[in-house]
Amino acid sequence: MIHSWQTFKYNLMNLKNILGVDIGGSGIKAAPVNCKTGKLLEEKYRIPTPEKSDTEGIAGVIAQHVRHFRWKGAIGCGFPAVVQNGIVRTAANIDNSWIGINGRKLFSKATKLPVWLLNDADAAGLAEIRFGAGAGFKGSILMVTAGTGIGSALFVKGKLYPNTELGHIFLKEQPQDAEYSASDAARKREGLDWDSWGERFNTYLTVMENLFWPEMIIIGGGVSKKMNNFKHKLNLRARVEPALLLNNAGIIGAAVAAKIYLKNQLGG
Ligand code: BGC
Repeated sequence: MIHSWQTFKYNLMNLKNILGVDIGGSGIKAAPVNCKTGKLLEEKYRIPTPEKSDTEGIAGVIAQHVRHFRWKGAIGCGFPAVVQNGIVRTAANIDNSWIGINGRKLFSKATKLPVWLLNDADAAGLAEIRFGAGAGFKGSILMVTAGTGIGSALFVKGKLYPNTELGHIFLKEQPQDAEYSASDAARKREGLDWDSWGERFNTYLTVMENLFWPEMIIIGGGVSKKMNNFKHKLNLRARVEPALLLNNAGIIGAAVAAKIYLKNQLGG
């Protein structure tokens, strides 16, 4: 049998459209993406994250997505952890069994297709830089995603510094890291109204701003659709923009990242 990488090599055209997958704490969403335009080619499909979010459970969902879309091309996956060369290094909101696993190889084996894996917030940021709120902006950008956890991605002149984990800093007078009190999950868990949560999120962003001085902050994740509910609580120096691609940024960015990586692999 020809290895999937080789099969793929014969069909470089496939790199135009890539299946983008966004693995989150509550749902795993996917859609085929036109990497040139950043547009979804079909309606996105969501499968709830299995309760036991271990390697087998998540690999099974990726394979389900491949069957759903009858997908035969490359796949890009955003993953809610530090990912270095396909290897998962942390597990804040997923099963600990992930640490040290080569997720790229695992998903490739489960789907028999070429896969690229990267941090979910890095993926969302890449999409926003290319097609969304950061398109054409040359300055420093901090993307913050607030969902189950808090994800971050830092860009300067369009280039990513990968795997920043700025959701895990400690805020004054908070018992745990920032994502524990300022994520969207914290808002729901504590039943906070938008004003109270907005104040907390502003405190978090102020700390980020004082440390990194980004010229633009892009807010992504589940809360990006609800920015009108809390934007009056944000008091920041930087230009603040909601993710234009809303909750699709992770899917689109994962596909784009896979295209960049696979192109290099194939010498295209
Ligand atoms: C993880 C990050 C991830 C973020 C958003 C955090 O708990 O440590 O890697 O980007 O959640 O999913």
